[in-house]
Amino acid sequence: MSHNSGDEVWHAFVTGPLTFQLRDGRACVMRPMTEDDAEELCAVLPKMHSESDFLNYLPGEFSKTVEEEKEYVREHTTMPGSLAVAAEVDGCIVAVGGARSPEFKRMAHHAELGLVVLKEFWGLGIGRKIMETIIEWGLRRRLRKMYLKVYADNDRAINLYRLLGFVEEGHLRQDIQRGDGTYGDTLIMARYFASRTSGS
Ligand SMILES: CC(C)(COP(=O)(O)OP(=O)(O)OC[C@H]1O[C@@H](n2cnc3c(N)ncnc32)[C@H](O)[C@@H]1OP(=O)(O)O)[C@@H](O)C(=O)NCCC(=O)NCCS
Repeated sequence: MSHNSGDEVWHAFVTGPLTFQLRDGRACVMRPMTEDDAEELCAVLPKMHSESDFLNYLPGEFSKTVEEEKEYVREHTTMPGSLAVAAEVDGCIVAVGGARSPEFKRMAHHAELGLVVLKEFWGLGIGRKIMETIIEWGLRRRLRKMYLKVYADNDRAINLYRLLGFVEEGHLRQDIQRGDGTYGDTLIMARYFASRTSGS
């Protein structure tokens, strides 16, 4: 799969929608999330959460009403320090991602990000494209760093983040309790952007 430059990805996304070809030849459309997605998100997010062991909700635990989801999306799409992305195949949402900076100035120079892809679409290039878009958003907001939390045994995600310049900077031991009662660690991974001011 060819990789476009960040500029090309961002331009296509904001003037969008951005369409790209998946590894299996299908077209994927990436665009900003809107409140109109709330109903579909209420159906697809519980599925995404139930089919991965690497997300914070146990199967059946994630549930929101359409109104609650609408409110969540509204908040994430209207705040300047926030980005919410949806990716569609054949008109259905198959992945979501986003990032958010704290509102207070002491921490507004960074953003925490997250993403999830429906299992049947893993390995086709969607996660990478969403990450590239989020990173470009961070660059354009002149952030100093972006970070995320990832379960320490989530090799697929960790590989993706490393490829895109994220490095491990924190290790939280026994941070999660799995469905079977065992404990697992979480990594904090961060990507730094070039500094604009002196001091680090
Ligand atoms: C992790 C996740 C977001 C990756 O998205 P994806 O669309 O499957 O990833 P991509 O197809 O874009 O692959 C990107 C990279 O991931 C890595 N990757 C893909 N499949 C992999 C596998 N089976 N094992 C290890 N690494 C793999 C590769 O490094 C790949 O790089 P490449 O594009 O140069 O081949 C997705 O699998 C997912 O939603 N998982 C469940 C939820 C989750 O873990 N979210 C992240 C929480 S921090």
